[in-house]
Amino acid sequence: MFTNNCPDHISNNDLANPQRRSFLSKALAAVSILFTGFVLYPMLQFLKQPLAKGGTVSRVAAAKISEMTNDSARIFRFGDSPAMLVKTPEGELKAFTAICTHLDCTVQYVKGKRHILCACHNGKYDLNGQVLSGPPPRALEEFRVFEEGEDIIVSRT
Ligand code: FES
Repeated sequence: MFTNNCPDHISNNDLANPQRRSFLSKALAAVSILFTGFVLYPMLQFLKQPLAKGGTVSRVAAAKISEMTNDSARIFRFGDSPAMLVKTPEGELKAFTAICTHLDCTVQYVKGKRHILCACHNGKYDLNGQVLSGPPPRALEEFRVFEEGEDIIVSRT
């Protein structure tokens, strides 16, 4: 006579057992709920973060003076939008919105080339934010820049 001592073996009798099937269903539901919680919780936390006060932020410390070398740039958050602080090869500080005026891609400073590039459609701006070439319909919005203590401040006014 065949006897099954293997604990992993599930016989037809076990599957037909409503108590065991009920337990397995509950265990599967519990695992599903836990997994969903682990996936959804971080997403909900991200979505719950308050949107930056883009309309109310009028100035921000974009960088420390010591962090910027000539012919460099950095992207920083200005309210709810990215902006770009540029230190030209001559050492002049400039700041612009980092959003291309064509289709809103983020632009980047091209070190050694004296221009700002939008890689999406090869749009190029000069270091005054004016369009050099490509599809952008207008210049980048420029912000005021000044030093305050150790900080470089960018202001909308
Ligand atoms: S989005 Fe910048 S050139 Fe098209």
